[in-house]
Amino acid sequence: MSPRKIIIDTDPGQDDAVAILLALASPEDIDVLGITAVAGNVPLALTQKNARIICELAGKTETKVYSGCDVPLSRKLVTAEHVHGKTGLDGPTLPDPTMPLQDQHAVDFIIDTLRNEDAGTVTLCPLGPLTNLATAFNKAPDIVEKVQEIVLMGGAYFEVGNITPAAEFNIYVDPEAADVVFKSGVPIVVMPLDVTHKTLVTKPRNDAFRAIDTSVGIAVAEMTDFFERFDKEKYGSAGAPLHDPCVTAYLIAPELFKGRHVNVEIETQSDLTLGMTVADWWGVTDRAPNALFVGDLDADGFFSLLTERLARL
Ligand code: RIB
Ligand code: CA
Repeated sequence: MSPRKIIIDTDPGQDDAVAILLALASPEDIDVLGITAVAGNVPLALTQKNARIICELAGKTETKVYSGCDVPLSRKLVTAEHVHGKTGLDGPTLPDPTMPLQDQHAVDFIIDTLRNEDAGTVTLCPLGPLTNLATAFNKAPDIVEKVQEIVLMGGAYFEVGNITPAAEFNIYVDPEAADVVFKSGVPIVVMPLDVTHKTLVTKPRNDAFRAIDTSVGIAVAEMTDFFERFDKEKYGSAGAPLHDPCVTAYLIAPELFKGRHVNVEIETQSDLTLGMTVADWWGVTDRAPNALFVGDLDADGFFSLLTERLARL
């Protein structure tokens, strides 16, 4: 089977970094047409720089990186330095990038790619706030039907929120953008906190990254060593949750994941529950299912795939 053509939309972020490394390490499964940066974990100037740092760490300097939206559709930007550190990639010491940033705006790259590639052959993989995707859909509605699938990290239902009691960070930062995406009609696979909180980098798993004993393996171990603080303090977790790598692992091995096709709508009005992904898990409404909402995974299978692939770089 030919590799799946994807655009990774991202706000690196240590977990975004691991998701990107997994994709770049898997050319037989994934063809990364481009990486589009969005403001999220840290401001855009850093997310676009971090995306290039990660490509250089992977030795994939031919990857095209684009800079996108620096603020949400209609709200002030909320960032997460308290989780990811000032740079967004705290943990390892990595050199500033020398590879170029593409001149084209990320939104225009998304639009042009979907217009130029055969319809139904490009998957969008957002790992941060959905501002770039929503802006592209609003600017060029003709591209919506050309998207093969959206596989995203975001939202929460049984696991509830991580930035507010009700909302997960990616959706909370730009709920209006999430509303555009979830109402677009494009087939969506959602990796919410319900599943990503089951991908904890325990010490044996982190030791396995370090034991790869390459610059990539050591950098990933140092990223997750840093990144785990927030979740350990807040949830008493046994390690850092690898939220975003669930997206790229799903593209490679969907059988590792289990979910349910349900209706998911986004709260955009209430201050109390702004950004909540209201998943009709028990089918109590007549709202049509619009997403595969993933709730479980084979965590050991996920980590052995991830460790094996990272060792290739
Ligand atoms: O809530 C977790 C999500 O927010 C992850 O994508 C993380 O990188 C941050 O963007
Ligand atoms: Ca992210």
